[in-house]
Amino acid sequence: MKSVEILSLGHYVPERILTNQDLEKMVDTTDEWITTRTGIKERRIAADDEKTSDMAIKAAEEALARAKFDPQNIDLIVVATTTADSSFPAMACLVQKSLNAKKAAAFDVGAACSGFLYALTTAKQFLLSGMYQNALVIAADKMSKVMDWNDRTTCVLFGDGAAACLIQTSDKPNEGILSDYIFGLGEYSNYMQIIAEEIKPLEQKNMLVRSPYVVMQGPELFKVAVNSMAEGVEIAAKKAGISLADISLVIPHQANDRIISAVAKKLGTPREKVYVNIEKYGNMSAASVAIALYEAVESGAVKKGDYIALVVFGAGLVSAANIIKW
Ligand code: ACO
Repeated sequence: MKSVEILSLGHYVPERILTNQDLEKMVDTTDEWITTRTGIKERRIAADDEKTSDMAIKAAEEALARAKFDPQNIDLIVVATTTADSSFPAMACLVQKSLNAKKAAAFDVGAACSGFLYALTTAKQFLLSGMYQNALVIAADKMSKVMDWNDRTTCVLFGDGAAACLIQTSDKPNEGILSDYIFGLGEYSNYMQIIAEEIKPLEQKNMLVRSPYVVMQGPELFKVAVNSMAEGVEIAAKKAGISLADISLVIPHQANDRIISAVAKKLGTPREKVYVNIEKYGNMSAASVAIALYEAVESGAVKKGDYIALVVFGAGLVSAANIIKW
């Protein structure tokens, strides 16, 4: 039986660092509040002219270089993003153009912070069906462009970044991405949205009076996030035929350190078996879990043969989990 394995990873974060102290000067907040309520100390912010696609391309180039993979051989490019440069063209097509990946199919997946695992799971199905042999899965979000920088309840939480992952089919059974669990909780769609202010009447040419920005019901999201992520890991582990104790490392979406702790507690997973990098980056939406995976592997926290769990939740609400044998 075929399986799908991860060949290589890449990542990119912008140079500019926005610290909690910087935010103290922008909104009515404190380093102490942000640190104790979220675990975040700083986040990366893309330059004004640095687009989501630019970050996606840089992450993709690293993943390809690490695997010494010729872009001409890429079958499929899927980009997870909800902050695309524009509604179309798809970010995946911009990546394709930049890489000159001539034969690839290319499309985007929009599942907010769950985007990377939704995209990975989608791409995996194309490989398992035999339609394609490999895929480049990218998660990229420029959250800074959808922030209301006057709203302290949201602007302290988010940052920008991208990560990429090259996957291919393998003949080795029970290797690579062992199980997937993706699910939607549309009843909570109002908990986190990107909205624009009222549009003007038709006579005034439908001008938007304000750029789209994030609104969020934080405490409500918190509870759903904890429950859905804990449930996701349990179901994905069951589907993979392993127990929670077999998992060497849980790599969760990095939205709030207190959410991560509560998920670990629910799962009975000791904190040292949970990967956290939120202090450096905040919530980079789809890119968060992918960059956490990249860093966990780079740091040696993931070793060959380990079972790892990736788990996410995001606006939608949507949630997802995968078990991977590294
Ligand atoms: N600085 C100082 N005070 C603040 C700030 C801030 N930045 N933000 C809110 N406060 C205040 C509030 O106004 C409130 O004051 P009040 O008691 O006088 O009304 C007080 O702090 C407590 O506010 P809460 O919202 O109850 O604080 P809570 O402990 O719930 O933390 C937080 C808020 C961090 C947003 C938390 O609820 C959370 O992380 N929720 C989940 C958010 C999330 O995961 N979002 C993204 C998921 S989806 C996706 O990623 C696409």
